[in-house]
Amino acid sequence: MPESTQVPTPYTGPQAWLGPDMVNRPDEWLHHWTPDEIAEIEMAADSVAHQVILDITADDFPLPMIKAVLAGIKSDILHGRGFAMLRGLPVDQWSMDKTARVYWGLGVHIGLPVSQNSKGHALGHVKNVQRDLEKATSRGYERTDRLPFHTDTADIVGLFCRKPAKSGGDSLIVSSTSIYNEVARRRPDLAAVLLQPLQRSFLSENPDEKNRLVDVPLFMPEDGRMIGHYVRGHIYKAQALPGVRLFTDEQKEALALVDSIADDPAFFLDMQFQLGDIQFLCNHTILHSRRAFKDFEDFDERRHLLRLWLACKDGPVLPHWMVDAYDSGHANGRQDGYYRPTIPLKVPLDAEKNKMSKQILKSI
Ligand SMILES: [Fe+2]
Repeated sequence: MPESTQVPTPYTGPQAWLGPDMVNRPDEWLHHWTPDEIAEIEMAADSVAHQVILDITADDFPLPMIKAVLAGIKSDILHGRGFAMLRGLPVDQWSMDKTARVYWGLGVHIGLPVSQNSKGHALGHVKNVQRDLEKATSRGYERTDRLPFHTDTADIVGLFCRKPAKSGGDSLIVSSTSIYNEVARRRPDLAAVLLQPLQRSFLSENPDEKNRLVDVPLFMPEDGRMIGHYVRGHIYKAQALPGVRLFTDEQKEALALVDSIADDPAFFLDMQFQLGDIQFLCNHTILHSRRAFKDFEDFDERRHLLRLWLACKDGPVLPHWMVDAYDSGHANGRQDGYYRPTIPLKVPLDAEKNKMSKQILKSI
């Protein structure tokens, strides 16, 4: 580790929050839809009932009253504490099609939906599809086990709860800015390690050779913020590839420290999903996780969250590492998920049970 690495002093902005404080301040991040707001959303969804969902823009989905509310929420997400929960949509009264239109319509008022996987899915389904859990290609969102804290590959990730779990499955979120501050306080030497690039690979979702090994630090100071980026799967998969720089003992220790702080109830916030809840998170300042859950046998009754990954032109300034690694030229210089020029974007209306293609399996 270069001795010259400057370890920035603690960040004190709104991104540096602690879970136990946020539990006591739900008025700051929890929005209850009013009956008038719900009526406006339903009217907008009905007005695009016959439009191809992928083509629906903010102009097509008029929200004259809610527009200002959403703008405030978006500003909080991108430039404030980094998260919000919107509660009270009567999703149990809606068809899957209407639910998708509502979510997409709200989403395009916040950002541009980008691809979440190798198939070009711009609307994702977080659901247990009973794939072989040992397969390297199985993504965590398709299972029921605990997910480790991580970031997704877009400015914002949104989850819309269409069916809650039988039990468990809470969403856990933690400020990556606060994690950085704590690492720097306890072990400035390890903070310096985490400011240096780590090799990652996202071949499994995008087999272009340029994605075989990319260098991105875990923490990146930029424009007065500390940008965090931690996709554990990408980091550990890279370690198995030929030509990779193997972890040093300091890197292993530093990653373990990040994990232990993220897992500390003094840092994370436990958010229970209720039917109809929408959660939006800024990936650049928040890590997210999920508790294990018990599911229903009936496929149609299983825990089911709709997911959006949104690219936002007015998001935080991104470090060159992020732009170099993740901008495929499809989202105004922002991270555009797993976009591939040869794979058209799609809006599927339920989780797919099929296996990934042989081509993708071979690339692992
Ligand atoms: Fe995620």
